[in-house]
Amino acid sequence: KSVLYRLWKGDVSSKMLNPRLQKAMKDYLNTNKHGVRFKGKRNSRLTGDQLICELKDRVHVKTIDGKEAPFSALGWEKHVPQIPLGKLYPHGFGSCAVVMSAGAILNSSLGDEIDSHDAVLRFNSAPTRGYEKDVGNKTTMRIINSQILTNPNHHFIDSSLYKDVVLVAWDPAPYSANLNVWFKKPDYNLFTPYVQHRRRNPNQPFYILHPKFIWQLWDIIQENTKEKIQPNPPSSGFIGILIMMSMCNEVHVYEYIPSVRQTDLCHYHELYYDAACTLGAYHPLLYEKLLVQRMNKGLQDDLYRKGKVILPGFRSVKC
Ligand code: C5P
Repeated sequence: KSVLYRLWKGDVSSKMLNPRLQKAMKDYLNTNKHGVRFKGKRNSRLTGDQLICELKDRVHVKTIDGKEAPFSALGWEKHVPQIPLGKLYPHGFGSCAVVMSAGAILNSSLGDEIDSHDAVLRFNSAPTRGYEKDVGNKTTMRIINSQILTNPNHHFIDSSLYKDVVLVAWDPAPYSANLNVWFKKPDYNLFTPYVQHRRRNPNQPFYILHPKFIWQLWDIIQENTKEKIQPNPPSSGFIGILIMMSMCNEVHVYEYIPSVRQTDLCHYHELYYDAACTLGAYHPLLYEKLLVQRMNKGLQDDLYRKGKVILPGFRSVKC
């Protein structure tokens, strides 16, 4: 059976991936670039509902607030927004859309459905202009990795993609989440452009995720997976799903678990083909997707035809 079919059934192992992806995963395990030292136990086989409650209980969206070293001594309390991300929408949102950048969303005609949600989350440099029919045009929040802030090709300073939306940036930090070590040696130095952007756009909500939040998500993925997962941070997609689960009553995730339109086309907006974009090489993406599949409350038919998964927001579940 195909990997897609097995993903829909929630029953894939890395052994089913192509040899190149398997080799890449193995190399990441051996390199352990971020110094991951997992202390928990693997393969607690929670049900979807138990998993949702586990996430609700343990996942707390945390951003850099400027109160910890080295940020405190550098005056970051004044650099970060006065209102923390968790208090930005005190009543939260009703229904939310998380729009993945996968090529499979092309020709989906999901645009109107996506725009009908109260809030829409997009990722990195994924555009809406020219793709409205398939991805919609509303953007409430954008999650961006540190390369977006540092690579001049992305025109972070002047591109309209990053205006009039809530921005949430992240960078892979050491597993220890030692902020001093991270600040001296980030993967890509997002700190300088962050402060600069905050000075120029003081009214735009713009946050940097705390490494503790990111690695907490990683721990939960590993605890609930039998295989050893890549010792690298979860993908922006998974991070975004969890942020929306903490802010919305209901979260509709599009083309994370691929629909029948599955393709090796990495992004809908770019002519670049690589199966790793959908199945993971650096990120433990395959395992993230298996957990999300386990928690899906939507119809199987919506999964096949729309690549849609429906997850309850944390405030909507009684645990
Ligand atoms: O590539 P990028 O990180 O910008 O894409 C945003 C997110 O969409 C990814 O982190 C991943 O979770 C998801 N994605 C996917 N399949 C693809 C491309 C992206 O699941 N082909």
